[in-house]
Amino acid sequence: MAEGDLQPGSKQFPIELDHDTPEHAANWPERWRAIRETTPRAWTESHGGFWVATRLEDLVGIAQRDDVFSTHKELDRVTGETTGGLSIPPVPGIRSIPNESDKPEWNGIRGFINRHFAPRAVELRRQRARNFTAALVDMVIEKGHFDIVDDLTNPLPALVTMDLFGFPLEEWRAFADPFHTMVYTPASSPEFAATIKGLDHFHARVDEEVAKRRLEPKDDLLTIFATGLIDAEPLGYETIHDLAFNILAGGVDTTTALTSNTLLYLSRHPDQRQELINRPDVMPLAREEFIRYFSPIHGLARNAMSDVEVNGWKIDKGDRVLLAYSAANRDPDAFEDPEEVKLDRFPNKHVGFGAGMHRCIGSFLARMMWECMVTEVLARMPDYRVEEDKIESYHTVAKVNGWIHIPAIFTPGKKVGATIS
Ligand code: HEM
Repeated sequence: MAEGDLQPGSKQFPIELDHDTPEHAANWPERWRAIRETTPRAWTESHGGFWVATRLEDLVGIAQRDDVFSTHKELDRVTGETTGGLSIPPVPGIRSIPNESDKPEWNGIRGFINRHFAPRAVELRRQRARNFTAALVDMVIEKGHFDIVDDLTNPLPALVTMDLFGFPLEEWRAFADPFHTMVYTPASSPEFAATIKGLDHFHARVDEEVAKRRLEPKDDLLTIFATGLIDAEPLGYETIHDLAFNILAGGVDTTTALTSNTLLYLSRHPDQRQELINRPDVMPLAREEFIRYFSPIHGLARNAMSDVEVNGWKIDKGDRVLLAYSAANRDPDAFEDPEEVKLDRFPNKHVGFGAGMHRCIGSFLARMMWECMVTEVLARMPDYRVEEDKIESYHTVAKVNGWIHIPAIFTPGKKVGATIS
């Protein structure tokens, strides 16, 4: 037995941690701080046993070793059983690609879609996203009250993502709601199977629309899926579904969580809200700071394919590691006063969008959508105030650190006549 094996946090002396509980959701900043300070490379027996990486340097070191750490998920399409993959606890019944694929499969998929998420492609979508945002605010502006999640931060990313795919925009709720519910329902709960069933509509509509695009191509992502080639081969049924799932799941709930957290924070900190209104030039830095501070995706797994040592940390073949982005984003070795929101923090090398080859493909899109929503709210309802006694957060943050409801009131204003089309 090596000396390190006797340390607290080793496999012999595991820590008590289940990050998929309401207790963790309510106390995650304090819990991560305590773990990072005492056992930054910790083993827990929860969910079959896994390591937790809480320091930025360790997390990035592991994320960059894609030669050893896998995210590949095996899915039995009949039973729904899975092995490997990104989620702790495991999410049965579905696979996301490119996120749950390794090289060389990942190279083909990512190369196939990269350009549709590049900065130039995103800029071409900004004006439509602005119009959608203005139309959503129009729907509530005369009332003087709205639900930040239901009326803005859930629909806007859903509309933009539907538009990117080429799905009819009026169907956004039928697509976004099952994803939203799936994200905040604990994977280990009895209700979870029903949330997976809720995705049947999405799968059926993907099939219908892809079939239509084969006959009549358009300028959208569904046409790319229907007619494109990866390694000179058309995309198979499973590839289309796993890829569409990853893009829709990435598109609809993460940006929702980021913007909900931002607007709630700004309601609680009117001085900083005023600072953002006065200094729009600070927006890009503030955006990165909110991504760091809230870490919408709290953590994702890697699976060791062989024995490996990263920064002196020995990890055995078959071990799972949770890359705790939310913990690393508040690592005091990487960020000064990490528990504070500094709107103009710079530099800010956060890992809110991940690190290594799986780093978020949708980061530019997410940033653009956040800007549209926050700018519109600050311009048209600058005095909004959240009704704190009515808010409801996700009960677990193991998948996404988000909100179910955030009602707010504001001084009513006038419509600008924007429409969703
Ligand atoms: C604030 C919003 C967002 C956050 C915080 C976020 C976060 C992340 C993170 C942490 C990863 C890395 C996963 C890993 O380490 O394995 C990731 C990957 C990914 N994200 Fe995002 N994401 C956001 C928005 C989006 C959007 C808008 C889309 C698409 C419309 C998207 C699509 C994806 C995809 C497809 C991957 C997998 C990339 C790969 O495996 O190569 N994300 N995201």
